[in-house]
Formats: sequence, structure tokens, C-alpha cells
Amino acid sequence: MSVIIAPSILSADFARLGEDVTHVLKAGADWVHFDVMDNHYVPNLTIGPVVLESLRHFGITAPIDVHLMISPVDPIVGEFAKAGASVISVHPEATLHLHRTLHLIKSHGCQCGVVLNPASPLELLLPVIHEVDLVLLMSVNPGFGGQKFIPSVLERIRRVRALLDQHHSSARLEVDGGITVDNIADVVRAGADTVVAGSAIFKSADYAATIHAMRQAAARSAG
Ligand code: DX5
Ligand code: ZN
Repeated sequence: MSVIIAPSILSADFARLGEDVTHVLKAGADWVHFDVMDNHYVPNLTIGPVVLESLRHFGITAPIDVHLMISPVDPIVGEFAKAGASVISVHPEATLHLHRTLHLIKSHGCQCGVVLNPASPLELLLPVIHEVDLVLLMSVNPGFGGQKFIPSVLERIRRVRALLDQHHSSARLEVDGGITVDNIADVVRAGADTVVAGSAIFKSADYAATIHAMRQAAARSAG
């Protein structure tokens, strides 16, 4: 199974977002990773449902992977679904009733995911492991693009992969933060099947070459 590459548009050119997202998808990306920050749960402020809807109107049909770094979550989930989100992922610490939030996401027809920060106990996943379509492991602390990958997350990827297997879950295992051509192989070898990369792709001179190099490295690690 080939790895899904989801460029984070946090590092895209917001002044010409539609063109930049079209460009990255034509260059071989699979999903669009859409980072939503509220200057409350994380110390940064980004984009909301209006921007997502604009991307859909612009003609973006690829899956849009919404990573909510906001609190509270529930009052705005419906807006993201209506705007055209495909997957919506939430941090357990950012919502009072995680199980309810995940079901709310599903009730709007989206897939749901749970996100674990580098210092969040993996046990947070267990009560909802049969509810989620995706587990997103942060390999940086959330809030900013362009940070350095935290190597201790590799062991967490292995442990989550083992948990998913043990519970016969087919949820995707996505990793987000500091992923580059140089470390994607380690991430995939540890058990990730979906990889977010923001600055490594959008700050590169040639998106297609970077995505191709990432796929080659990931494929080598799997083989
Ligand atoms: C961090 C975001 C990430 C980030 C990834 O809070 O969730 O998606 O933009 O960017 P890079 O790949 O530059 O670390
Ligand atoms: Zn993200």
C-alpha cells in the first residue's frame, strides 16, 4: 500500500491558495491537510470553514483533512462539514466529551480522527479506538509549521501501529510535523501510512520532485 502524502497548507501561499493547492495536487499529493488554529488551544491563528469552502468552489476535489487545533470543537464541526471537509480530527484535550465529538463529526457525514500531541498519553486513544477512522500522531508540538521532528515519536508510532493491529482497527495512522525527504522512511518504517508535510513541500523549489523523492524514500523503507 503506498503512503498517502498530505501537504499542510499552513506553509502554502495564502494570497494565492487555490492555485498553490492545485499545483501541489498536480505534483502528486493525495490529500490536503488543513490546519485550523484559534490562538487559544494553540498560540497561532489560521483559517476556518470559509477558506475551506472557497477551495471547494475553486474546484479542489481531493480529500481535505481538517486538523482542528481549537477549543471548543463541537459548535463549529457542522460548519467544516458543510464547507466540504472529508476527515475532521480533534485533540482529546480540546473537547470535554471526546466520544460525543467523534460521533458529531460522523453524524455530519465526515470521517473522524483523534490527534495525540508528543506528550499526550497513548492510552487516550483506547476508549475510542473503534470509533476513529484516523489516528494523527503529532511529531512536533502543535501551533507552527517548520519545526523539527521529535525523534521519540518514532517509538509512539510503533506503539500505535501495534495497538491498531491488536484491536483489528483499519484506521489510518497519520504523522504530522517536521517530516522531510530525509526522515519519511523512518516514519513509514515505524508504521505510518499517511504523512503530513508542510514546509518540506511548500518551501521547496519543485513540489513534484520533492513529493516524488518522498514517495521513493517511503517505498524503500517499506520494501
Ligand atoms: C502544526 C501543524 C502541522 C504543520 C506541519 O501544528 O499541525 O500540520 O503545519 O508543517 P511542517 O511539515 O512544516 O512541520
Ligand atoms: Zn496539522
